[in-house]
Amino acid sequence: MITKVSKENIIDAAKVYMDSWKESHKNICSAEFIEKHDLNYMIDFLSEKIKNSYLIFISYDNAPEGIVAINPTDEEICLLYVSPEKQGKGVGTKLLDFALSKCVSPYITVLDSNKKAIDFYKKRGFVPAENQAKNNSEKRIFERKYVYQNKNM
Ligand SMILES: CC(C)(COP(=O)(O)OP(=O)(O)OC[C@H]1O[C@@H](n2cnc3c(N)ncnc32)[C@H](O)[C@@H]1OP(=O)(O)O)[C@@H](O)C(=O)NCCC(=O)NCCS
Repeated sequence: MITKVSKENIIDAAKVYMDSWKESHKNICSAEFIEKHDLNYMIDFLSEKIKNSYLIFISYDNAPEGIVAINPTDEEICLLYVSPEKQGKGVGTKLLDFALSKCVSPYITVLDSNKKAIDFYKKRGFVPAENQAKNNSEKRIFERKYVYQNKNM
């Protein structure tokens, strides 16, 4: 079951986000930075997104298993995070398909270092955008935008 994240279930969403974010960032961020992303930090982060009109969704299979968000102003699909123990079981595909069904011309942004996510998105119809924002070498952020190429169009 996929449902919208609101005040009632934001703790579930923040917990999934925290577990998945910590696991996927543990080799690229300092321990101090990882530590900062505790449950309260994630609740505040997601609350701020909801305040800014992002639509956040959570998937449950008895327990919470993953989240995804859409920024309705530009149809960025973001915050796709699946609990580490639930990965490789189709949850990410299910959440991405759900988000895609709500968009016309969506895009995503991924760190160049996140090979697993890049492969995942490419296999599901995303291609590098033509007009890429410059990578920010000062902040050492190297990320790329991918747009959805709907093969049925
Ligand atoms: C990237 C991410 C969202 C993918 O989610 P996921 O739930 O693992 O994705 P899926 O299970 O749907 O698909 C992953 C692979 O598992 C396979 N799979 C799907 N169902 C499966 C099943 N029942 N049993 C075994 N494997 C399965 C899929 O075939 C897929 O392989 P493919 O890409 O070669 O087709 C997840 O790894 C994640 O949360 N990563 C950390 C956060 C992150 O990097 N997010 C992206 C930020 S931009």
